[in-house]
Amino acid sequence: MLEMKTKLPFELLIDQEKIHKRVSEMAEEITREYSEKTPVFVGVLKGCLIFMADLIRQLNFPLEIEFISAASYRKGTDSADYLVLGGASTTELKDRHVIIVEGIIDSGRTAEAIISHLKLMEPASLELVTLLDKPGSHRNRLDIKQIGFSIGNEFVIGYGLDNTQKFRNLPYIGRVLDEK
Ligand code: IMP
Ligand code: MG
Repeated sequence: MLEMKTKLPFELLIDQEKIHKRVSEMAEEITREYSEKTPVFVGVLKGCLIFMADLIRQLNFPLEIEFISAASYRKGTDSADYLVLGGASTTELKDRHVIIVEGIIDSGRTAEAIISHLKLMEPASLELVTLLDKPGSHRNRLDIKQIGFSIGNEFVIGYGLDNTQKFRNLPYIGRVLDEK
């Protein structure tokens, strides 16, 4: 296992073998449904990076990729978070079969905002897949087509996911330990 030179205490949560096996299963399911549809995978930056790269390399039918970025900001302590979506889409999504690819869903706000935004482009279908989900944290009911792993309300890093922009290069998923 790769040791990271860090002072952030974390432990292994999901190893590379488990991730690989689950991503392959997800790819099989996507293949069953989309192999004749030339879907557009819209990755949510930056957390989708490794998951999407691994997922699409398990698919052997025509597909396209696109990216969207989402950043959330908190104004003070009381006011609600707001989200800024970015990323110039060069692909026309109208009448296309679109699959949103997320690294992790927590409150679900990011996914909700992206879904509303992409719906305006009138895709033929719009589904959401995520490697990780924290079902206990969702703010509203969210329709997720495929979930790699459901986890508890804990903070995880690695395989594309960050802690203050670091640790995305960790090849497995780690759980950050509470600092005592
Ligand atoms: P949301 O609350 O579902 O909108 O999630 C917002 C974003 O927070 C996600 O897309 C991730 O970028 C980030 N996030 C939430 N939980 C974690 C975590 O455990 N590790 C790393 N990033 C996280
Ligand atoms: Mg982050």
